[in-house]
Amino acid sequence: MPTSPRHFLVDTDLTQQEQSEVLDLARRLKADRWAHRPYAGPQTVALLFDKTSTRTRVSFATGIADLGGSPLVVNPGESQLGKESVADTARVFSRMVSTIVWRTYAQEGLEEMAAASDVPVVNGLSDAYHPCQILADLLTVREHRGDPAGRTFAYLGDAANNMAHSYLLGGATAGMHVRVAGPEGYLPDPAVVAAAEERAASTGGSVRVTTDPDEALAGADVVCTDTWVSMGQEAEREARARIFAPYAVDAAALAKADPEAVFLHCLPAFRGCEVTAEVLEGPQSVVWDEAENRLHAQKALLVWLMARSGRYDLATGS
Ligand code: CP
Ligand code: NVA
Repeated sequence: MPTSPRHFLVDTDLTQQEQSEVLDLARRLKADRWAHRPYAGPQTVALLFDKTSTRTRVSFATGIADLGGSPLVVNPGESQLGKESVADTARVFSRMVSTIVWRTYAQEGLEEMAAASDVPVVNGLSDAYHPCQILADLLTVREHRGDPAGRTFAYLGDAANNMAHSYLLGGATAGMHVRVAGPEGYLPDPAVVAAAEERAASTGGSVRVTTDPDEALAGADVVCTDTWVSMGQEAEREARARIFAPYAVDAAALAKADPEAVFLHCLPAFRGCEVTAEVLEGPQSVVWDEAENRLHAQKALLVWLMARSGRYDLATGS
């Protein structure tokens, strides 16, 4: 019997145990990729995009098809969303589809959608968070460095953006020591830092926010950055290039981390800005595995959310 839907709007919507369950399932689904064993989880899944996307769009559409469901991609201007309310949209969609994935601007919109939806709502990126990306990143860390718990994670660059916020919350949930370095004025929302600290206190992780890139990098197991110009910030491109220049990840920066450190970037990447081509294409970069892992992590998330919403039995597979 359906119960209240579980949503995934922000990284802390999953506990450490639940995040680990999703990642375990992702590993199994990755190993079984070509076994053509559809789960009865998602049927039609709505994929709503208010911003452009390559990885999120392709990984969800492919993953839903792998699971035996159908992706319904709705681009900006193709539905009445924006003319009728988010809540009315949620009511109608949730009478028809099994899950709603939405890439949008305001986190509040996702919260409004979830409050009115009878089916799981998933954040496909908002201005505030990108939690699906962190699941893929944690799966990648597991594959290359083992259990993320106790590992040190260094993020450099725009520390006020969606990726920085999700690394703080998702990394702390995984029990990582998350260090985030960015310039004054571009540091994380203090409320997000407080939430990450609270989560870290129960997982054995920790959180450090600094303006000193070397402090973040020292001995780190994972080094990570993101574009300096997020979607919607294009007019600030030149100013941002100057402000963030000291936080670029080049070979000298990477050398300050642990010699076995892996480099992550959610992509799209801008070589010569936040990361050099040498690092992005170098032996420590695992960004293509990371991109592929969007597929496996999100398949697991969709199945898990359906199961936890009472619509699918993970044990019996029906
Ligand atoms: N990393 C990521 O979300 O990529 P897209 O913007 O291409 O979906
Ligand atoms: N911070 C970037 C992430 C892109 C996946 C943006 O919001 O554009």
